[in-house]
Amino acid sequence: MIIILDFGSQYSELIARRVRETQVYSEVLPYYTSVEQLAKLNPAGIILSGGPNSVYDDGAPICEADIWDLGIPVLGVCYGMQLMVKQLGGGVERAERGEYGKASLFIDDPTDLLTNVEDGTTMWMSHGDSVTQMPEGFELLAHTENTPAAAIAHHEKHFYGVQFHPEVVHSVGGLALIRNFVYHICDCQPTWTTEAFVEEAVREVRARIGDKRVLLALSGGVDSSTLAFLMHRAIGDQLTCMFIDQGFMRKYEPERLLKLFDQEFHIPVHYVNARERFLEQISGVTDPEEKRKRIGHEFIRVFEEESKSLGPFDYLAQGTLYPDVIESADTNIDPKTGERVAVKIKSHHNVGGLPKDLRFKLVEPLRKLFKDEVRNVGRSIGLPEEIVNRHPFPGPGLAIRILGEVSAEKLNILRDADLIVRQEINRHNVYSEFWQAFAVLLPIRSVGVMGDQRTYAYPIVLRFVTSEDGMTADWARVPYDLLELISNRIVNEVRGVNRVVYDVTSKPPGTIEWE
Ligand code: XMP
Repeated sequence: MIIILDFGSQYSELIARRVRETQVYSEVLPYYTSVEQLAKLNPAGIILSGGPNSVYDDGAPICEADIWDLGIPVLGVCYGMQLMVKQLGGGVERAERGEYGKASLFIDDPTDLLTNVEDGTTMWMSHGDSVTQMPEGFELLAHTENTPAAAIAHHEKHFYGVQFHPEVVHSVGGLALIRNFVYHICDCQPTWTTEAFVEEAVREVRARIGDKRVLLALSGGVDSSTLAFLMHRAIGDQLTCMFIDQGFMRKYEPERLLKLFDQEFHIPVHYVNARERFLEQISGVTDPEEKRKRIGHEFIRVFEEESKSLGPFDYLAQGTLYPDVIESADTNIDPKTGERVAVKIKSHHNVGGLPKDLRFKLVEPLRKLFKDEVRNVGRSIGLPEEIVNRHPFPGPGLAIRILGEVSAEKLNILRDADLIVRQEINRHNVYSEFWQAFAVLLPIRSVGVMGDQRTYAYPIVLRFVTSEDGMTADWARVPYDLLELISNRIVNEVRGVNRVVYDVTSKPPGTIEWE
């Protein structure tokens, strides 16, 4: 295992993912992790991440200096390199000129860390401080025009520092460098594979659950579907999968999910048709937050009722992923048992918390995985691409894509329009070019003409965006022909719609969803 000590860089997770791409397991730990704990974990190598600080800032994050006596190879990236240099007695100063963006890397020593990295290759830089004096025993590996010490090494001790960011895609030789570090310097074997993960996860779940019963709330996404498969493989019918259909899913989605589980996976799913009660709950509600709240509460109620009638259960299986684990300080540990307990159902169910008397112990077999790794596991177990690569879909579903009051009629209209959007972007092979691409139904009507008839009907908004993480987004530059096709089909095929408009607002100032 490789440990990444996080000094606050936005790229720490990315470093971990890059290491895992070499099929070597890696974890991100906070920079203040004690040397004792590090020694216990016995990693094959440690990577110190970048960070926003200068090593000379008051209160700049530092790792324990004993880390340099562990005898473990270390790679310092950007701030991590500067910290290494400072702690080992070298010099770091504010550079005359900072370096941001692409830079050509000129190689002075093409051995170990830089094997197979081309001289003159592009690396991504982002730093204001530079190493001005290498600590004793270090040698220069590479420089750039503005940075004399862009890569350095203490070959004997296996300490390496790079001023650039090998983990970002713009760094052309970055992955080669990371491979050199994990394979040749840390001597790791490529054993972190999907198959190995599944095997180990199944073994762990069996050992943990024994003969107890587990409840799993299936949502139709890749996480809960993959989770259900893993859990079922591990404990068979000790697992109860429950699928609450609130009536706000896309056309055919509930049916497909049930069919997949029943006919392909042979995993029984307890189907709860709660469409009417959810619709009733939000009938007449126009405020978006109130809608969300009511849907969330109703979810809890249904979940509670159903789990009582099917239970009792000892555990709740949850599709927590590694980024959630990194982010959440583990405040939800039961002090008596040391096990994580559910005080929150995953946010896609949009609920604040489970009632006190409904606290389950949690089993979270995906908690070591990044999203792309879950997708790989999903693929390997035969989940269809439409689930594996599905765009994000909000927990309250179509209810927040119908602005204002939701009715059965409007749900049908939006479902049909949304289906056309999906059909066309799939047919044109552009589904994966968007972060999300969907239809929104507005609560107003406008005048149109069809045949010789005047119409007075709803407009559909097309909302297609590109994004890295959903935090910011840009409207997608969709070819006019595709827009025309979608627009024509919606107006011709969906009764109740006579106009289609395209949303050209980025986020910010807009949001991706309309409610
Ligand atoms: P916004 O609309 O805030 O959305 O730009 C950002 C991302 O979050 C998704 N989203 C939600 N997901 N429950 C969810 O589980 C919600 O209530 C919710 N609202 C927005 C949205 O689809 C986008 O990917």
